[in-house]
Amino acid sequence: MEQLQFKDAISHPVFKTISEAAAAIGVDAYVIGGFVRDYFLKRGAKQDIDIVAVGSGIELAQKVAKLLPQSTKVSVFKTYGTAMVKTDDFELEFVGARKESYTRDSRNPIVEDGTLEDDQNRRDFTINAMAFSLNPENYGLLVDPFNGIADLEKKIIKTPLAPDVTYSDDPLRMMRAIRFAAQLNFRINDDSFHSIKNNASRIKIITNERIITELNKIMMCNEPSHGFILLEKTGLLSYFLPELTALKGIEEVEGQKHKDNFYHTLEVVDNISRKTDNLWLRWAALLHDIGKAPTKKFSKKVGWTFHGHEFKGAKMVYHLFKRLKMPLNDKMKFVQLMVRMSSRPIAVIDESATDSAVRRLV
Ligand code: CTP
Repeated sequence: MEQLQFKDAISHPVFKTISEAAAAIGVDAYVIGGFVRDYFLKRGAKQDIDIVAVGSGIELAQKVAKLLPQSTKVSVFKTYGTAMVKTDDFELEFVGARKESYTRDSRNPIVEDGTLEDDQNRRDFTINAMAFSLNPENYGLLVDPFNGIADLEKKIIKTPLAPDVTYSDDPLRMMRAIRFAAQLNFRINDDSFHSIKNNASRIKIITNERIITELNKIMMCNEPSHGFILLEKTGLLSYFLPELTALKGIEEVEGQKHKDNFYHTLEVVDNISRKTDNLWLRWAALLHDIGKAPTKKFSKKVGWTFHGHEFKGAKMVYHLFKRLKMPLNDKMKFVQLMVRMSSRPIAVIDESATDSAVRRLV
């Protein structure tokens, strides 16, 4: 296979320091994951950089800290076998190459003495498993056993191993697949998609905090609906936001239909996202109609009604935030306020309800 070297990607002096530290303690070291992916996507250099050592990541971090020109503290996370070093420009995360799954919150024992290949096998996606060598003999060499480069070009999210294996190693990866698809405008390949559908219920073992971190990243995409539609289609959404999936569907009684409030909601979220980067305003848009499912009624005289859904919805916001361990402070109160006011279209649609007005409220 053609050997591709990318010395320019790792021209910052900090990489030379890591390289020297690795040579001094006799381990091989590689930059891996998001930094490599984002270099090829030209997304702008990442500040958090993952380094994998074929040996002890903690020892390598300690050596790097000693060699850096400024005095630097090493934060060691023994349970996870990782260490972090902060420099002026970067947060460097060190980990020893693993045979078992790489996840920061894994409950599996840490098995460090893997090869680089073992480690790459156990990562989430082919586009996140690429590495640049920091070793003197082939500095900058791209190590890409699953052809992540081709998947970047084809805009495909694919797991290095059989998807059932990769997703069962860490079920949060099912959400990460959707998050990357939404952020990068990529497609999840068919095998992966089916595997997510089959394994969706395993999301139940993931903490709400981790779920919300991914959900907020989906929420901050240019078009959040992309992610939410995938979350719904795979069945994941109903496990953590059943209030939203309850809005799906159109009922018809005596020839009278109401709109599908799920897809309507997603349109509102996309619309607001074109106007603002405020996460809480986006959440307010997502939840503005959740009171409609429990208040829905059909009467022969007036057809479908959702009386009091704004008040019901505002109450539901509190319970939803509490359940998902989201903040219960002024952010939640702001979302409640917006949901309560959501049927006053002018107040919400008017320009004055965009960023500057929100800054006053949040
Ligand atoms: N990783 C993984 N499985 C996870 C989380 C992370 O395999 N559940 C691996 C991937 O190789 C990933 C790297 O760890 O690239 C770093 O993870 P993280 O910092 O969460 O993501 P990034 O890929 O750096 O991307 P972003 O910063 O956009 O989250």
